[in-house]
This record gives sequence, structure tokens and C-alpha cells, in this order.
Amino acid sequence: MQRILVLNGPNLNLLGKRQPNIYGKLTLDDIEANCAEIAKTLGITVKFTQSNHEGELIDRIQTASENFDGIILNAGAFTHTSVAIMDAIGSVETPVLELHLSNIHKREEFRHNSFVAKVAIGMICGLGANGYPLALQAMRDYLQAQNQG
Ligand code: DQA
Repeated sequence: MQRILVLNGPNLNLLGKRQPNIYGKLTLDDIEANCAEIAKTLGITVKFTQSNHEGELIDRIQTASENFDGIILNAGAFTHTSVAIMDAIGSVETPVLELHLSNIHKREEFRHNSFVAKVAIGMICGLGANGYPLALQAMRDYLQAQNQG
């Protein structure tokens, strides 16, 4: 059974209240509950976490391989600023799939650059909360393909 860590970065704890026109009305707890349901049908285990702190996210990326096979990462605004998170992902074997609720390429110019994208296996963005179950399925399939190869 594949074990997947869903790691959410800064301000994503405010989902539901935060700019719902951009990020939707679901809370992070709602999305976590959806992920737990989907995990059963996908035959995977999922741990869902959030932190507002860059160092905390880096610690979780560094130690993920102790308990997880892959990471879904919505790094929030750190996506566009954090060389340190990019380096952490580049320093470990654990595959990372980048995820965003909004379409970062359709928004302000400063959101178009993603340091995470440079080291991620791929990216899902712009599909709102639906991106989470899609990312879980994509990571499950990616890990399965790696194991077969
Ligand atoms: C986000 C996009 C980022 O640009 C923004 O800073 C966020 C959320 C998203 O999920 O759409 O905090 O990662």
C-alpha cells in the first residue's frame, strides 16, 4: 500500500475564509476528509498536514521517507520564493508532486515562477479542491509505475 503525505504550506489553514473567489469555499478539514475517502478507493494511506513555517515544511520533506513513499506539496507562497524548499526536495529521493488550488499561471506575474516545479515530478493547478484527489491518484500511479520499472 502506497503511503502519501499531503503537505500544505502557509495560509492554507485559512481555506474557506480566505479569498473564496480564488480558493473556493471548502476548508482544509473538508479537503482532508475528501482525501481520506478517496484514499480508501485508491488503496493508499494518506497523512494530511499544514504548516505556516518554511523550516517546518523543510523538516517534513527531509524526513518524509521514514514513513512515506511520496509527497503532494502545496507550498503556498513559498512556491514562488523558497530556494530552501527546492533544495530540500532536490536532496531527497521521495518524489514530490506540486499542487495548487488556483491557476498560478493565470494570476500575478510573481506567481508564474515556481521553485518547486524545478524539482517536482509534475504539477496540478487551477482545479480547486478537486486537484487534491487527482494528485493522490497521480502519485499512486507514479509510485506503482516506479515499482514495476
Ligand atoms: C496557492 C497559490 C499560491 O500562489 C498562493 O500563495 C497560495 C495558494 C494555491 O493553492 O493556489 O497560498 O498555492
